[in-house]
Amino acid sequence: MLSHMGDWRRSHNCIQLNASNIGEEVCLMGWVQRRRDHGGVIFVDLRDRAGLTQVVMSPEFNKDVHAVADGIRNEFVLAIKGTVGMRPEGTINEKLPTGEVEVTVSELRILNSSLTPPFMIDDFTNANEDIRLKYRYLDLRRRTIQNNLITRHKLTRIMREYLYANDFLDIETPFLTKSTPEGARDYLVPSRVNPGRCYALPQSPQMFKQLLMVGGYDKYFQIVKCFRDEDLRADRQPEFTQLDMEMSFIDREDLMELLEGLFIKIFGDIKDVKLERGFPRMSYDEAMEKYGHDAPDTRFDMFLKTINDLVADCGFKVFKDVVAEGGVIKAINAKGGGTKFSRKDIDAYTDLATSLGAGGLAYIKVNEDWLQSPIVKFLGDTADSIVSAMDGQPGDIIFFGAGKENIVNLYMSKLRLKLGKDLELYGEDDYSFVWVLDFPLLDYDEDEKRYVAMHHPFTAPLDEDIPLFDTDPKKMRAKAYDLVLNGSEIGGGSIRIHRSDVQEKMFSALGFTPEEREYKFGFFIEALKYGTPPHGGIAFGVDRIATILTGSDSIRDVIAFPKTQKATDQMSEAPNRVDEKQLKELCMKFEVVEND
Ligand code: AMO
Ligand code: AMP
Repeated sequence: MLSHMGDWRRSHNCIQLNASNIGEEVCLMGWVQRRRDHGGVIFVDLRDRAGLTQVVMSPEFNKDVHAVADGIRNEFVLAIKGTVGMRPEGTINEKLPTGEVEVTVSELRILNSSLTPPFMIDDFTNANEDIRLKYRYLDLRRRTIQNNLITRHKLTRIMREYLYANDFLDIETPFLTKSTPEGARDYLVPSRVNPGRCYALPQSPQMFKQLLMVGGYDKYFQIVKCFRDEDLRADRQPEFTQLDMEMSFIDREDLMELLEGLFIKIFGDIKDVKLERGFPRMSYDEAMEKYGHDAPDTRFDMFLKTINDLVADCGFKVFKDVVAEGGVIKAINAKGGGTKFSRKDIDAYTDLATSLGAGGLAYIKVNEDWLQSPIVKFLGDTADSIVSAMDGQPGDIIFFGAGKENIVNLYMSKLRLKLGKDLELYGEDDYSFVWVLDFPLLDYDEDEKRYVAMHHPFTAPLDEDIPLFDTDPKKMRAKAYDLVLNGSEIGGGSIRIHRSDVQEKMFSALGFTPEEREYKFGFFIEALKYGTPPHGGIAFGVDRIATILTGSDSIRDVIAFPKTQKATDQMSEAPNRVDEKQLKELCMKFEVVEND
């Protein structure tokens, strides 16, 4: 319903009027996008959520209206009554749905004035992000952000409707929860009525959704905020939204089939892109070998290749030493890059790699009858073997990373993405999904000198791997799956441990003493003893999916009120200092308080 005020009733929004409305009396309300004074006649582009309509105030038509219109400025809020007419020949704007018509105003009310905005409310603004975030309510008026939020709304609506149709129940879980370790750092909330104790905001509803399965609610979902105090990146926010789901009596295949259906619907309805069932699948090992990352961007080929065998005895000391020390040498052939890239480009790739921990970025440029490279003189004949193993043709350039495996993968995967972009190996509207499967169950944390769960401690190991808990935990594989889209991990989940004895083994493998296990997870292990059905689930990053659907550069552009990289809200200046009195009530005292 359109809003109304007294006898002023909004008859149309600002996208509806066109030639079929000529002669109609209408009432519009909205903001002044732009005001132009053309020799006494004032034109205003009136804007609302839907669109823009040109309204005209001419002294010949109505002197009083024109006099009031003289004082209006950008972003004033207006209500107008008037008559729809055709725009004069030559002034029709083909780009606007309302571009054929204008409304000649007979009555005008200024509903509110506005200060001059600190930046133009325009589709393309060059205002810096700090200013846009400080005045987020103005930024929200921009069409780009509005379209993003509308797309996000469509996304969550499709998710809900799809899951309702598949018999899922939407159930809420608490935000004031118990702090349990593992995963990211918690946001803590001190309890006034339990002095000295804290709740934690949930990093995800993981345990609750499993307890709902114990409780018999066999298909659960929720679109829910999660909170993680971690270092932020372009695709991370301290509070973000998950589509969180859990099901009982299923295996991995059931879940993947259901979810492919969901994404076929999302991409069909929102992007008009027809996806086919049977999304590609890849093992974690293959992803790490060929892409250097567990969230492979499969929009383009061009793979990394380990060439340790070829260089183990070569004359280039860096490579030889790395092999001897148990590291890896990975190569990538940027096809056509030899011709395309300048010296400066190569330096920029080297800088990218070294900024991520590389010792350097060796390369071989393949020319018609010679190899151009700072390392060929050391490599000798090995250079030819490498070039042929990498299918090097004239015009190609092969880059090499050598060092510790995790670091080489880190920068070579980033380099691969940059090369793919620079060589234009994919189009703007390419969408490439892949399920990544067969993750290791555990990862060894060098700092803590213990195993940590690769996904989380509730993920089930493959049945045949359970005996390895006692012999070789590192070798265990998990019943986990991630869904990756265009190199972004958009969702992750697993089949869970539903037996308390296996869960206890898992906690032991993570290095918890029986006492720690009991204190932190006792209630959960106990619950598993009361007839827990086999179950599994997944959670999707709604913000990340919306970022991809809208083609946004940043996750912040699809969130109404996002946080900065420093986890602050520029507009309200949260987090802020609180009254001594509030702290006292909580029995709290901060040791370090920054001065103003
Ligand atoms: P996970 O930790 O993989 O799994 O999170 C699921 C998905 O949430 C998104 N995501 C984020 N998005 C924005 N900002 C962040 N800081 C952020 N962190 C994660 C990602 C990710 O794939 N409880 C398990 C799921 C399960 O096992 O069912 C979980 O939370 O897209
Ligand atoms: P240098 O002998 O240090 O001049 O290195 C010769 C070439 O090998 C340069 O192109 C370096 O960028 C490259 N290089 C050095 N260290 C590494 C490394 N760890 N991985 C890959 N390339 C390297």
